[in-house]
Amino acid sequence: MADAQPRFLRELDTMIRARYPLIYLVTWEEQRVEALLGDLARSHGKDLLEWTATRGLCALAGSLRGVDQDESREPVAALQAVGKLQNPSLVLLKDFHHALEGPVVVRALRELGTKLKSAFTTVLLIGPTLKLPDELEKDVSVIDVPLPTRDDLMQLLRDIARVVTKSRRAVVELTVEQAEALVGAAHGLTLTEAENAFAKAIAQDNRLDGGDLRLILEEKSQVIRKSGLLEYYATDQSLADVGGLSHLKRWLERRRQAFSEAARKFGLPEPKGLLLLGVQGCGKSLTAKAIATSWKMPLVRLDMGRIYSGLVGSSEENLRKAIRVVESLAPVVLWVDEVEKGLAGASGGSQDTGVSARVFGTLLTWLQEKTAPVFVVATANRIDSLPPELLRKGRFDEIFFIDLPSAKERQDILDIQLKRRGRNPALFPLEELAIQTENFSGAELEQVVVSALYDAFADGAELEAHHLVMAVQETLPLAVTMAEDVRRLRDWAKSRTRPAS
Ligand SMILES: Nc1ncnc2c1ncn2[C@@H]1O[C@H](COP(=O)(O)OP(=O)(O)OP(=O)(O)O)[C@@H](O)[C@H]1O
Ligand SMILES: [Mg+2]
Repeated sequence: MADAQPRFLRELDTMIRARYPLIYLVTWEEQRVEALLGDLARSHGKDLLEWTATRGLCALAGSLRGVDQDESREPVAALQAVGKLQNPSLVLLKDFHHALEGPVVVRALRELGTKLKSAFTTVLLIGPTLKLPDELEKDVSVIDVPLPTRDDLMQLLRDIARVVTKSRRAVVELTVEQAEALVGAAHGLTLTEAENAFAKAIAQDNRLDGGDLRLILEEKSQVIRKSGLLEYYATDQSLADVGGLSHLKRWLERRRQAFSEAARKFGLPEPKGLLLLGVQGCGKSLTAKAIATSWKMPLVRLDMGRIYSGLVGSSEENLRKAIRVVESLAPVVLWVDEVEKGLAGASGGSQDTGVSARVFGTLLTWLQEKTAPVFVVATANRIDSLPPELLRKGRFDEIFFIDLPSAKERQDILDIQLKRRGRNPALFPLEELAIQTENFSGAELEQVVVSALYDAFADGAELEAHHLVMAVQETLPLAVTMAEDVRRLRDWAKSRTRPAS
């Protein structure tokens, strides 16, 4: 998002003006933030100090008087020294979350917070993950530092190009469009990661040119994979591959332009996204993929189940991290498949209700307040575990219910599934088959086509109508075995959602 950076800086600027005493900056990028804080300190006419466990308090810009640097390596001493500073300052505490494991330090920080409310000094904690003891939660304001903007990355690319050209270490041959494509590909990386990716591209053949796009994209999918929660999803299925669901498809057609500049000028907000509820196998996941293809946006899948896995840090922090990466990829379609799985704990039942509720809260707040063009497609097929807050207005643009396909829709789906497998639908009695497949889901219709193909293949023959009829007769649709569940789902959806067809 183009203005993410100024917005975060503006927020920070306002907090400093408003004398927020304690601010936590969540970021991997110490160097970049340090540079930004340098500018900020200058514009406020303040000193910029830094604390690290190895060096204690020292001045990055301006002066530091009356502090015993050696002594200030000890966290409590450092905090007390900050409380006695003469000049208005910004004080950056690095890795301080480790020190917060001690109760005396926590107390000292709270006391400092109170004291600084009437001073012109701000303490900034910085770290890659948010780690705060409960006692401090209300005293510390948290800012997620967004990843570098396209402009930042373009600047980096220019700097690198200048340096390597000057030293004749490599040849740089990029048109404006190619440079923009490289920058677009690097968007979502930290400055250091982007620098490494560009350096790697150069090192391979001593050239930086349009051909390096692939490599940069690969680096980025690595980074996204490393986050453990997000996954790039390559798909070529489009809305033409979705049978039926005419209301939903029409809605999507009409929203297509909604991310454009023209739509903003018209006074429209950025689209938020959709919640798709419905019977299993009726095309929720398929629709999510088709939206991305049709709108020509990348598709990124968020695995809610893994947020709680506990393997990669705290759940809440994991989600924040994922959100930051996704926002940096915007415009993008974010597919949150089976959202109810991740939120199961939020409505009670699990031992870690507190964690689930907080994670869920983070997600809801983001859904409500996000301004980046991230179109969220959440899907769910179990209503029992859906917390009512998720359904409230303002979270999604619309909630659609996807029911079992009608006869006409079944015909449509069979048509699509046959075409996908290189068969001419006109050669098969689809109207007849549609009537015989009452209660079949889209997935089951697909399965009918697939098993008919297997039979034909085993017979050493081309696919014929009787193979399809056989396959239909052999299928017992889930909607029949689970009729009660489907009925409940429909009743529930009637008053709360919009029908997709
Ligand atoms: N409306 C449809 N049109 C065409 N194909 C469909 C449709 N619905 C389902 N299918 C086929 O069935 C497959 C499975 O559907 P999909 O995964 O989208 O269902 P789902 O609603 O996400 O189910 P679940 O609740 O089990 O996740 C699709 O990949 C597609 O091939
Ligand atoms: Mg699905």
